[in-house]
Amino acid sequence: MTSTQSPQSVVERAPAKVILIGEHAVVYGHPAIALPFPPLSARGTAVPAAAGVAIRSDRYSGLVARLQEGYEIPKPLKPAAEAVRGSLEAIERAGGVPRSFDLYLESDIPPGSGLGSSAAVAVAAVRATFRFHDREAPPALLRMLATRAEAIAHGTSSGLDPTTVSAHGPIRYVRDHAPVDLNVVKPFGLVVADSGTTAPTGQMVMRVKSRLDEDPQAVARLAELGALAERAVQHLEHAEYPELGRVMDEAHLILGSLGVSTDRLDAIVTAARSAGAFGAKLSGAGGGGCAVALVPIERLRPVAEAMMAAGAPMAWPTQYLIESDKP
Ligand code: PMV
Repeated sequence: MTSTQSPQSVVERAPAKVILIGEHAVVYGHPAIALPFPPLSARGTAVPAAAGVAIRSDRYSGLVARLQEGYEIPKPLKPAAEAVRGSLEAIERAGGVPRSFDLYLESDIPPGSGLGSSAAVAVAAVRATFRFHDREAPPALLRMLATRAEAIAHGTSSGLDPTTVSAHGPIRYVRDHAPVDLNVVKPFGLVVADSGTTAPTGQMVMRVKSRLDEDPQAVARLAELGALAERAVQHLEHAEYPELGRVMDEAHLILGSLGVSTDRLDAIVTAARSAGAFGAKLSGAGGGGCAVALVPIERLRPVAEAMMAAGAPMAWPTQYLIESDKP
């Protein structure tokens, strides 16, 4: 059944995300620190349609998912379709009347690069579906729907990506718990640099799992990452950025010992440190994907250039704002 009102087109966004400390360890219940990264984002535009719901994505040109009985949804659009279906069910449960619309999904977040691309698309899809029905997705429901979509996309998800891309600033996250917002009292610089190769998150999570099965020391390494995350909380909230950088350096070494770094990522983080970063590490599942460097604001440009000279085809230098600076 569709509504008789005339709904308006709506656009909703969700940013990329960067993990400061705790990727992989978070899968096993250790804390992680991550933050939304607004220079890159996904968008969902819901446009009124004559009948039914269709999802279209610029990434998979020509592919359409129709939410109707018996329609075989193309695999790449299954996570987003599940997010929209779950949103419509929730809207209906809350007394709303589902409307007909086309949802256009766009993203400038490189996929498979540790920046939470699929989570951002799912969050943008849920937000747009709710807004199109003149509602806002409650935060816990938003996280739940996006986490379900992530599980379809990657076969597994700690929930860190969907939780971070729906947060307003840095968070401390423990699997199956609500995130805790962290206070940033002084701006800092971040450079995110793409290593130019990608690796599926699910595959990298399986690689770490095999390490854990074979090597008892790997279990202790994950616990060390958890302890580093706790130190990172203190350093971040006290604006102790040189110390936070050293924690990131330690985390990169541990991730390397778990088999998820690459020669290119190692070269990029080394170049960042030599150019004046406080610290640098791979960010996300690894095996390729991105590195992140914590940087004094005046060193943003030289560090970005150094990371690119070391093999990164793209780098995004960003000044991270404190809460009161945000619009
Ligand atoms: O999908 P990525 O590359 O952003 O990494 C997700 C972080 C992992 O800890 C490796 C997996 C997870 O579900 O937390």
